[in-house]
Amino acid sequence: MNVAIVVAAGKGTRLGGDRPKQFLELGGIPIIIHALRQFERCKEIKEVIVVLPAQETAAFQSLAEKFELRKFFRAVAGGDTRAQSVQRGLAAIDEAEIVAVHDAVRPFVTPDEIDQTVQAAKVSGAAVLTGPVADTIKEIARGQVIRTLARPNLRRALTPQCFRYDLLKRAYDHLEEVESEGIKVTDDSMLVERLGVEIRALEGSARNIKITSAEDLILAEAILRQL
Ligand code: CTP
Ligand code: MG
Repeated sequence: MNVAIVVAAGKGTRLGGDRPKQFLELGGIPIIIHALRQFERCKEIKEVIVVLPAQETAAFQSLAEKFELRKFFRAVAGGDTRAQSVQRGLAAIDEAEIVAVHDAVRPFVTPDEIDQTVQAAKVSGAAVLTGPVADTIKEIARGQVIRTLARPNLRRALTPQCFRYDLLKRAYDHLEEVESEGIKVTDDSMLVERLGVEIRALEGSARNIKITSAEDLILAEAILRQL
């Protein structure tokens, strides 16, 4: 069985506002519900664990009922960082073949993209959805340009990122050590990369945006209108 962990325990500080961005509505439906509906429609995922701010876990049950989320399995309280939230989600899984980790604030991933990433992980152990980089990327230090990175080799890391359960657990065993070095673990692949295993990079769609800032909300409204 394949399980998804949808992380939604962030505070949304860059976007601001009264409520974390995952609960804001797009076309009258909370962003997190848009994301969870993509998992409802995919074939490969049977159960979804939703990681939430501690004060939201109880209320989420009724939201899941309201939107008839059949695959919703359990709500768990998140941690201080995204990675700690994923780790809490992982702790709620007894058994799984593949675990797909997804940001609740990526409402436009398609069910096909989810299925393809899970299927690739079944073959290779690890697969992540990636997107093209449009800008030229510079490495800078103290306000000075150090070098230009070779754009053909660069991809944006999207979600879902899918891994064999045992592999992901092994990767997360090192979380405390990595975070104590001051490294910000911004995706799951980062931890798996340290194990030296192969990770497939699949081409994802440009519409799989992460809603991070206020401008992204405007873009999301536009994407929703043309779906
Ligand atoms: N996330 C989480 N637990 C945290 C931090 C983030 O579950 N402690 C989740 C967010 O809810 C989001 C995803 O990880 O779905 C990607 O994180 P990001 O876009 O950075 O969201 P926030 O951390 O909420 O926003 P910000 O960094 O602006 O505060
Ligand atoms: Mg964040």
